[in-house]
Amino acid sequence: MKGSDTVPRVGLTFDDILLVPKYSAIRSRKDVDTRALFSRSISLGVPIVSANMDTVTESGMAIAMARLGGIGVVHRFLTTAEQVSEVAKVKRSEGVVIEDPMTMLPDATVGEAWDLIAEREIGGILIVGTDRKVLGLVTRRDLTLEDSPGRKLKEVMTPRRRLVTAPRGVSMERAKRILHENKVEKLPLLDKKGRLAGLITSKDIMKRRQFPSATKDNKGRLGVAAAIGVKGDYMERAKALLEAGADALVVDIAHGHSAHGVETVRKVKKEFGSVEVVAGNVATSAGARDLIRAGADGVKVGVGSGSICVTRVVTGFGVPQLTAIVDSYLAAKDSAVPLIGDGWIRTPGDVTKAIAAGASTVMVGSLLAGTEESPGPTILREGARFKLTRGMASLGATVGRRMRERTGVGPGDDELVEEAAAESVPEGVEGLIPFKGRVDEVVRQLVGGLRSGMSYCGARDTDELRGKAEFLRITPAGYKESLPHDIRSVV
Ligand code: XMP
Repeated sequence: MKGSDTVPRVGLTFDDILLVPKYSAIRSRKDVDTRALFSRSISLGVPIVSANMDTVTESGMAIAMARLGGIGVVHRFLTTAEQVSEVAKVKRSEGVVIEDPMTMLPDATVGEAWDLIAEREIGGILIVGTDRKVLGLVTRRDLTLEDSPGRKLKEVMTPRRRLVTAPRGVSMERAKRILHENKVEKLPLLDKKGRLAGLITSKDIMKRRQFPSATKDNKGRLGVAAAIGVKGDYMERAKALLEAGADALVVDIAHGHSAHGVETVRKVKKEFGSVEVVAGNVATSAGARDLIRAGADGVKVGVGSGSICVTRVVTGFGVPQLTAIVDSYLAAKDSAVPLIGDGWIRTPGDVTKAIAAGASTVMVGSLLAGTEESPGPTILREGARFKLTRGMASLGATVGRRMRERTGVGPGDDELVEEAAAESVPEGVEGLIPFKGRVDEVVRQLVGGLRSGMSYCGARDTDELRGKAEFLRITPAGYKESLPHDIRSVV
């Protein structure tokens, strides 16, 4: 359908349709399997991805999402060093064995150790010599009682002779026993020459028990993805992110079906071989097809569907999200490349509809921006708590980006705001979103609704949901009937 001489096709979104209930042999919501692919070879326990937005995903959100069985995409509106540090925090947050624990030299000071502990959000630092031989350990607890920041760590550390250690390669069972019997929380692993070869902590062991379906890499560390752009130093950024352990790169541009988008996917795949590359955003069959042909291992679908987007208003372009997913799925279904339905997820029912339409997972932005784990403080307005959410093409985000690019320009620089306002045509907005507490509760609601939805469809897994789903287009009256009616809501 092209030009002005033909009748436009109808584009539909989630609220335009309902799923028709099917006979179900599923007796409990627990009996459905929510596993799904994020990319060709990254499987998630729950099909929820936190968006690569600066008000949504940095390390705190990415850690929480991976623990819950989803994954977070660390946004790219940071310097390369900052973004790498966020990825490293996720990788360091827990693992079977922390292979490269934080270390300092014995002559470093208490103040320096505090800075490192705060920056990396870790519980302790191993003290090593220049030959990497372990000399001692300082923990948060040791430092809390120390009030002279200039003191050398060698004076406050637990020295090597009092440390409980284990040889590299110790079994997990044995490590647990050593930690338990000695009532210690950290077990440094040493090679035959006494050099540091890793660290096992009781906190990590507990976390593994607490989050059995966490998304993990092949070293037992939490999974995380990171976004890159298509201009400037993106190849160096990609390299640094992969070195820090990022499990997937997400080529993130508003119009992914473009020469920039396709060429970047091709280039990153060629340069870094086996790396998982997710690319987007697209909203059409041709868009998904071209990114898949370029080598994408996952395709992000959604143009102008985000809660903070005004792309459709500003440019006149976009495809309502349900149609965008259905169309993209036409191109993706015969490949092993999963789709990520990105944007317009407001309710658990939207997740079910997106997956039924062809998405493997959904990406969630503003709904997660309101949680404790998103970057930024809570804001108090008229007695209620809020957090900020903003489009990455909003004026606020553009100003933030420019400030970062030109070091030395501090926040609140009026000239910069005026300059950005004069030069940019924002395709995003910013606003406040009610504070929602911890992200696990939000994800629990989304996944609980999906599980229920799958049982209404008689679908044991997400593939079956896609195969069995039958959509019914509804009228505005039908939509109204779906909402609570004729009562005064109390919650
Ligand atoms: P939700 O609805 O979950 O959507 O908040 C998140 C997605 O919105 C996209 N995004 C934008 N789209 N202008 C846009 O047109 C923007 O400024 C913008 N910022 C984010 C993005 O795909 C995100 O995952």
